[in-house]
Amino acid sequence: MAIKKAKIFAVTSVKGGTGKTTTVLNLAGIFSLQKKKVLIFDLDLYGSAVAASLNLKYKNDLFKLIDDLQNTRFDYIENYVTKYNDFIDVLPAPKDPRNANHINSKFLHIILSKASMKYDIILLDTNYFLSEINLVAFDQCDEILYVITNDPIDLKNMKSMVAIYKNMKNNNYKIILNEAKDIQRNYFSKYDIKNIIKDNVDYTIPNNFYIKNIDKYVLDGEILTLNPKVRSSRKKSIKNLELIANNLIKEKKN
Ligand SMILES: Nc1ncnc2c1ncn2[C@@H]1O[C@H](COP(=O)(O)OP(=O)(O)OP(=O)(O)O)[C@@H](O)[C@H]1O
Ligand SMILES: [Mg+2]
Repeated sequence: MAIKKAKIFAVTSVKGGTGKTTTVLNLAGIFSLQKKKVLIFDLDLYGSAVAASLNLKYKNDLFKLIDDLQNTRFDYIENYVTKYNDFIDVLPAPKDPRNANHINSKFLHIILSKASMKYDIILLDTNYFLSEINLVAFDQCDEILYVITNDPIDLKNMKSMVAIYKNMKNNNYKIILNEAKDIQRNYFSKYDIKNIIKDNVDYTIPNNFYIKNIDKYVLDGEILTLNPKVRSSRKKSIKNLELIANNLIKEKKN
């Protein structure tokens, strides 16, 4: 069997609640329809939402994995992930949030290199902190995806982040404007947004993707992009998400 070498992407932001986790789940859904093996790695250590969103029952989590690595009990990555469907597995963040403090970034490299032999795509769901764990994770990603919204603080923070990337001469990131999260908020046009952040918006999740009863899908542990009703009523948005997914696969690491 050929050894896989996964592409690794982090989904992050410069403000909380912009739609990162939803985007991770939706992209995982699109990849799974393309029969790609996906690992969703929940690195939002203090506010994990992936396993809860997917109604996953699990015993092992990232803390157990790292504890076993430290104590030479680790065997196979398969024993630490939880299956969502035939194509999507999840590596949950520590179930007990107190264990989040014990996640040492030095183990990320070994976990990602082991996982990359088993999956086509690894999606890291992160929080918006420029913490050491996130920075170490970003370093190992093929690309970092910033999910922003039409919110002035979010846009001003993104401007600062863009300046940091420009200063570091690093363009290993893409910007996704999520218009679907808060449809009341559409004060800035795409043109304004580009002027504020001093960068391009690479992709848009259109406001047509706003799902009024999203909580029902979350309660049912569903991924929106795998739901037939959502797929047929939100064709343009699904196309945009497919475009993001297809481009991610194509792009080369800088
Ligand atoms: N397409 C959508 N339609 C309706 N509501 C949405 C949509 N996308 C996201 N939301 C809602 O917006 C909120 C934030 O979304 P999400 O949890 O994905 O953001 P996040 O960036 O991961 O947040 P956090 O920073 O807390 O991790 C959630 O309550 C979610 O249900
Ligand atoms: Mg989240």
